[in-house]
Amino acid sequence: MESRSIRLAVIPGDGIGTEVVAEGLKVLEAVGPKFDLTHYDLGADRYARTGEVLPDSVLQELRGYDAILLGAVGDPRKVPPGLLERDLLLRIRFEFDHYVNLRPVKLLPGVETPLADTPAENIDIVVVREGTESLYAGTGGAMRKGTPYEVATQESINTAYGVERVVRFAFAKAQTRPRKKLTLVHKTNVLTFAGDLWQRTFDRVAEEYPEVTTDYVHIDAATMFFVSQPERFDVIVTDNLFGDIITDLGAAVAGGIGLAASGNINPEGAAPSMFEPVHGSAPDIAGQNKADPTATILSVAMLLDHLGLNQEAARVEQAVADDIVERLAGWGSRTTHEIGDDIAARVSGGA
Ligand code: NAI
Ligand code: MG
Repeated sequence: MESRSIRLAVIPGDGIGTEVVAEGLKVLEAVGPKFDLTHYDLGADRYARTGEVLPDSVLQELRGYDAILLGAVGDPRKVPPGLLERDLLLRIRFEFDHYVNLRPVKLLPGVETPLADTPAENIDIVVVREGTESLYAGTGGAMRKGTPYEVATQESINTAYGVERVVRFAFAKAQTRPRKKLTLVHKTNVLTFAGDLWQRTFDRVAEEYPEVTTDYVHIDAATMFFVSQPERFDVIVTDNLFGDIITDLGAAVAGGIGLAASGNINPEGAAPSMFEPVHGSAPDIAGQNKADPTATILSVAMLLDHLGLNQEAARVEQAVADDIVERLAGWGSRTTHEIGDDIAARVSGGA
């Protein structure tokens, strides 16, 4: 019996977003299972043409897919800064309740890291960042704006429900990894109300996972350890803001923005999860066939894994790892298309 094909919404976006997504789809095609693709034109170009960012009808349609693949959106010449972040990316994350933002920080053999003398196996971290609360919830306000007496507040929202569900996800994730270690990263000594809720929740859920070793590190110390002792970490669970910052640092130590993948996940599947490279639309190199599509291809691997296609995901990851070793062997600079072709060929067993 033929199985139902998987319905995938594709949002290439702007700039190199369209270029890297094309290569991600090439690899997806090579991996085997049938995907039914629908492209959505969203981002700076659409905004410049029509003034629309994310029409309600499109949001409704997106709900019907099994998953979403996004390239990158934004173009400083066409759209005011922050508009697409808030009204497109954050809106999808909130509306689809993507309460887990999953970002692997893994140094692949052959990739250069700015950390001297760090063997690849020392950097293998999964950051589980809370995606819907904290300072990003958008609560607060301003009064006497524009006067010397202006007051601005931005509140950090932390709910027992919201903290517990992401902490549970992180423990379950740690349980599946060889080291089975979970570190809570926060700032409990100063952010006493939010920190207390996170710490108590973490400790309570820990009792259900006796095999998982637990640890706590303040966010400021964590930035130091990411550089000085990255092997200290296995899985990290943290709030939205701290997770945002530490994953950029993670991308830097694990070989840069061209390799960093991410998933915005609704673990229960109540709405589609969205997978995307961490980088933006890179207007400086857009249209030049220069962008590294690897972050997008690794995001495709995360998407496959999320859909339960674990073997297919592993094949894509292995193809990327093998390709990277060849880069070290001196393949020199390849174009976006060439990297996509080479990885796709490995996935289908060619190269
Ligand atoms: P960016 O990530 O687009 O670029 C930063 C630097 O990294 C640039 O020099 C770029 O050439 C380089 N770079 C990024 N991805 C690369 C790749 N795959 N291969 C090789 N080099 C790569 O960040 P930037 O410049 O701050 O933002 C550009 C636009 O992208 C802005 O409009 C911004 O709002 C948007 N943006 C969108 C994101 C998203 O859609 N999730 C995330 C970050 C930024
Ligand atoms: Mg960021």
